[in-house]
Amino acid sequence: MTAKTFYIETFGCQMNVHDSEKVIGTLLSRGYVQVETAEAAELVLYNTCSIRDKAEQKVFSRLQQFKREAGKGKVFGVLGCVAQQEGEKIFERAPHVSLVAGSASYTKLPEMLVQLEAGGRRLTGLSLDTDETFDTPFTRRDNPHRAYITIIEGCDKSCAYCVVPFTRGPERSRTSASVMDEARRLAEKGYTEIQLLGQNVNSYRDPSPAGWDFATLLERVGEVPGIRRVRFTTSHPRDFVKPIVDVIDRNPALCDHVHLPVQSGSDKVLSAMDRLYTRDEYMRRIQWLKGARRSIAITTDIIVGFPGETEADFNQTLALLDEVQYDSLFSFKYSPRPNTSALHLGDQIPEEEKTRRLMVLQERQRAIQIRRNSEAVGMVQEVLVEGKNQALGQWIGRTSQNRTLNFTHATDNGENLMGRYLDVRVTRAGPNSLVGESVM
Ligand code: SAH
Ligand code: SF4
Ligand code: F3S
Repeated sequence: MTAKTFYIETFGCQMNVHDSEKVIGTLLSRGYVQVETAEAAELVLYNTCSIRDKAEQKVFSRLQQFKREAGKGKVFGVLGCVAQQEGEKIFERAPHVSLVAGSASYTKLPEMLVQLEAGGRRLTGLSLDTDETFDTPFTRRDNPHRAYITIIEGCDKSCAYCVVPFTRGPERSRTSASVMDEARRLAEKGYTEIQLLGQNVNSYRDPSPAGWDFATLLERVGEVPGIRRVRFTTSHPRDFVKPIVDVIDRNPALCDHVHLPVQSGSDKVLSAMDRLYTRDEYMRRIQWLKGARRSIAITTDIIVGFPGETEADFNQTLALLDEVQYDSLFSFKYSPRPNTSALHLGDQIPEEEKTRRLMVLQERQRAIQIRRNSEAVGMVQEVLVEGKNQALGQWIGRTSQNRTLNFTHATDNGENLMGRYLDVRVTRAGPNSLVGESVM
């Protein structure tokens, strides 16, 4: 392959988005040029997600679209979670694919590219028995103000519905020195917000003799000069400990937001999901957060229609929403996934019933959010400016609590506010965002 243009499309979570930044950096360092469309590219990469069936299907429809391009000098690669899950079966379904590699194999990406350039076909990187993490000096970050840092890869839990332990392999933590080094370098380059990433950041354990736990790492990253905001995702409730709340309370650079996925409000369903906590244990963590000196926003993930979920179980989830008063949530219909233990459970919930429960849940949460957001009206909140809505003449900011706050800037004389931190007075609230005016 002499061709040196590439296109990459990314599906899935922030881990995937950040993996793509590393893959892009690696390609650029080898002389490749990124292009905007698959049509214009000689190397087409899809970084895939398999969390629900719909996500998985996307890559196959993309590949189908380009079936006839095969052999015309276009090379296709499938990366990420579907690659790991389906492995060589992808070559059967889409014979024009040349490379299939899961995220645990990206450390070998430079070698795989050499083989691809030499005309290699049906290359695979599917080994999960790695204790390495994918650190590369070449990461090409998309956003000039906010940077992702992976602190832990893989997952050692075995939630009954989830593919991640199969697609991303066992947990591997990066050394604290390497994380701190990256944070300092990013601050020097002008980044002001850092997001620490992992499927379960709370089980971070520094493999070096320093032996830091997650709370210590969080605190130290928050102390890096120049870093004004630190976020992290995702927290597993079982491993979420009180010191994390104490550290947030102490350091204003740590954002007022914790995403703590609960999945269900029913002990019976939590147990069937193998989530390793009860509703009471989860609520204890919520009490820690609500008891903090700072006003910490709490968000969550919910799955409706897990096998065996009765109307009574579902009602307990609704009651949990009322009790916690989440600032926002992501909700999903249970989707049966390959290799997972829930596949073998009886009592699958019909699709229409899952849809109904999802709508009821979202309606309940919408009312809660309208109320929660309206509490902010009249307050002054600091935002990081992330964009501009030209049509409305509004800047788009994000608060420490991770709310979108669209605002007008009184002295708007064409100056570019992107990346600035400004105080904004909230004047109106909707279910999903706030509106305000900057304060001089
Ligand atoms: N590691 C994180 C995120 C996992 S994936 C965590 O443990 O919270 C993000 C969310 O997708 C999960 O929290 C869950 O709500 C949802 N999810 C995972 N598998 C799913 C499935 N098979 N069907 C529906 N939703 C699922
Ligand atoms: Fe999946 Fe559970 Fe691991 Fe989260 S903790 S990635 S839901 S197995
Ligand atoms: Fe999807 Fe893999 Fe992330 S399955 S949600 S891309 S870990």
